[in-house]
Amino acid sequence: MRVLITDSYDQMGLEAAKIVAGQIYLKPNSVLGLATGSTPLSMYERLVAVHRTVGLDFSEVTTFNLDEYIGMGPDNPQSYHYFMQEHFFKHINIKPENVHIPNGMAQDVIAEGERYEQLIAAKGGIDLQVLGIGQNAHIGFNEPDVKFAATTHKVELDEETILDNSRFFNNVDEVPRYAISMGIKTIMMAEHVVLLANGKNKARAVYKAVCGDVTPEAPASILQLHRDVVVILDKEAAELL
Ligand code: GLP
Repeated sequence: MRVLITDSYDQMGLEAAKIVAGQIYLKPNSVLGLATGSTPLSMYERLVAVHRTVGLDFSEVTTFNLDEYIGMGPDNPQSYHYFMQEHFFKHINIKPENVHIPNGMAQDVIAEGERYEQLIAAKGGIDLQVLGIGQNAHIGFNEPDVKFAATTHKVELDEETILDNSRFFNNVDEVPRYAISMGIKTIMMAEHVVLLANGKNKARAVYKAVCGDVTPEAPASILQLHRDVVVILDKEAAELL
């Protein structure tokens, strides 16, 4: 693991954007794994800026998002489909058919997980996976005590995650209890991984991910066993390292 501590949230986003842009310059038909949440927003803003100013070309890029809430369609403003559209996809020249996000409305979630894994495999796997981290050290929606061998699957969200994510909803009761998420195995199979974290409230999770034991109780700790991970932090998220 390489750890890069930056001065600010914006700087964190800039460094992450450089890695993503570098990947696309090297391989224009890259397969990117993408994350939602407040953390990667500064990275998406920078990538949009690079697209506008120097024409970073997304026309051959394929994306797979980590997760989606179960029961939320793409038109729901709280859905991760909607989030990605608003914050990233509508601002770049990516082809809609190259964008993939788990279907939160699928009747058969197991079949949806299998379909998603097959799509990733058909594209030759993920070249670069971008991750945020939950306060309980989850990645994607892989909550503590997840099975490390899991691929895309249905997850029940932890109370802590529901409370954390309630800031995006009118109240905590509106937060879905279930999601469909890439599994730890899916994430670990990516060629390169970038993990982003900012803010004091992530410091404990970052410590567990980088310095703690590798254990399903801290799902992000598995990344210590991945051969190419860059962890990009702001000072606050790095304060326990
Ligand atoms: C969510 C997402 C994760 C994200 C995490 C942190 O639950 N499923 O992919 O990394 O929480 O979110 P934020 O960046 O808003 O702190």
